Amino acid sequence: MLKLTDVHAGYGGTEILRGVSFEVNAGEVITIVGANGAGKTTTLRSLCGVVEPTRGTIEFEGERIDGRRPDQIVAAGLTLIPEGRQLFPFLSVRDNLLMGAYKRSARLNYKKQLDDVLDLFPRVRERLEQNAGTLSGGEQQMVAIARGLMAQPKLLMFDEPSLGLSPLLVSQVFDIINKILALGTTVLIVEQNIVHTLRIADRGYVLENGEVVLSGTGQELLDNPHVKRAYLGL
Ligand SMILES: Nc1ncnc2c1ncn2[C@@H]1O[C@H](COP(=O)(O)OP(=O)(O)O)[C@@H](O)[C@H]1O
Ligand SMILES: [Mg+2]
Repeated sequence: MLKLTDVHAGYGGTEILRGVSFEVNAGEVITIVGANGAGKTTTLRSLCGVVEPTRGTIEFEGERIDGRRPDQIVAAGLTLIPEGRQLFPFLSVRDNLLMGAYKRSARLNYKKQLDDVLDLFPRVRERLEQNAGTLSGGEQQMVAIARGLMAQPKLLMFDEPSLGLSPLLVSQVFDIINKILALGTTVLIVEQNIVHTLRIADRGYVLENGEVVLSGTGQELLDNPHVKRAYLGL
């Protein structure tokens, strides 16, 4: 479904991704794990057209998407739920969700789409008219996920969805991710907190200094001595 081949990218002449290659098949949950600064967010930004690769190719459903604009990439079916939620705090939850439906097909049946998405988030439904900035951190993360689903993605990408949340809320976020998978959406999750993600992931890639250094099934990576030492403190 998604294939990165030798992707190089960075900011203003500083190369951050130094030849990243990996694949996501339809229906899989894939995770990219790596320390702070490894290039995880930069990888996601390259995928959604915010950072343009200087070398390499990105293919989605058999077509090159590197070089396309972010809105064209969303229209093709790739949506990112960014790190730190990035909601509009002074807009209502309803208007924040409407912002997610910028794909034409999603706008056309906005009401039904909103209703379907809210079935997954009963607490968000209760707060539709409230300003997004007045919600708790956990509720804001749910709104950010709901907004991502409003774009009707084929592949939904999460950047550190559990960052700053309590353990209880982290498990609620992972429950929602499981429901999204059950709907048939393919998922790519980037996380620093890797125990949860490697348990639900089909496969994972370890990114260090802008390069994939290890890959395997979630369980293989959990059992890997380097992963244990570097990321689990074991
Ligand atoms: N907008 C930016 N401008 C310049 N450098 C950046 C920018 N965003 C990230 N970087 C640098 O790129 C490197 C990788 O960052 P990032 O992809 O955010 O890592 P991660 O998400 O794995 O923590 C870091 O050294 C960071 O300082
Ligand atoms: Mg990041």
